[in-house]
Amino acid sequence: MAEYWNSAAETYDFDMAFLLKTLFVDEDAERENIISLLQLRSDSKVLEIGCGTGRDTEKMVKRLGKEGLLRLTDISPNMLKICEEKIFGCSVPFEMLIHDASAPLPFDQRTFDVVFHFGALNEFKDKKFAMSEMVRVAKVGGKIVVGDESVPEWLRETEFGKMLMAANPRFKATVPLDAVPKEARDVKVHYIMNSVYYLIEFRVGEGEPKVDETITFPGRRGGTYRSRYEESLKR
Ligand SMILES: C[S@@+](CC[C@H](N)C(=O)[O-])C[C@H]1O[C@@H](n2cnc3c(N)ncnc32)[C@H](O)[C@@H]1O
Repeated sequence: MAEYWNSAAETYDFDMAFLLKTLFVDEDAERENIISLLQLRSDSKVLEIGCGTGRDTEKMVKRLGKEGLLRLTDISPNMLKICEEKIFGCSVPFEMLIHDASAPLPFDQRTFDVVFHFGALNEFKDKKFAMSEMVRVAKVGGKIVVGDESVPEWLRETEFGKMLMAANPRFKATVPLDAVPKEARDVKVHYIMNSVYYLIEFRVGEGEPKVDETITFPGRRGGTYRSRYEESLKR
């Protein structure tokens, strides 16, 4: 996989701009909108996974200041090199790391205000683990935004959808909601870039959501969430 992305690095900027042109996408505006979802402050601590050649990174660094912090990872050294050239001299302190997103992240838990990834989630060997690691290194209340290609259900039978999936099988991927960790709160799924890329956006909570287990339900059945659940285990 790293080999593939290394060889793609040199022409990636041209290829991406070309692809989005064929989709009638104003890439600059769309990426600004994506970055706006991150709600960056000048002092935000940000992790971008799979930053590639830095097409979003260069927009992020404009919103971060010297009091912020940026960690950039990618499986491909060639991608990181191009990204570094783009953001060299920016005010935010940044570090780059060659890293496979399906492996444990080399950061302490609760380090980042924002964890962001766009463009390869569908191909991660272990999406569930990768997302659990994003949550582990994010602060409680921190923001996670991840995204990749997917022709949505309602467009799969259209000529538009079929043409896209025939031209590039990556568009056949479905949104990996089964990989979203239990700590996710206020989850939103956005369809962007002419509806053929998704973003999953959420805030990080602690553990599972909770219900009030002390309240007894009115009516004949009665019981609480807990007692009804425990009853169900006996059946
Ligand atoms: C389609 S590009 C997207 C790059 C950039 N985020 C963008 O939006 O233009 C996918 C990027 O993810 C990287 N990548 C692919 N698999 C990865 C993995 N398992 N772990 C980390 N990065 C990965 C690739 O090297 C490439 O730079």
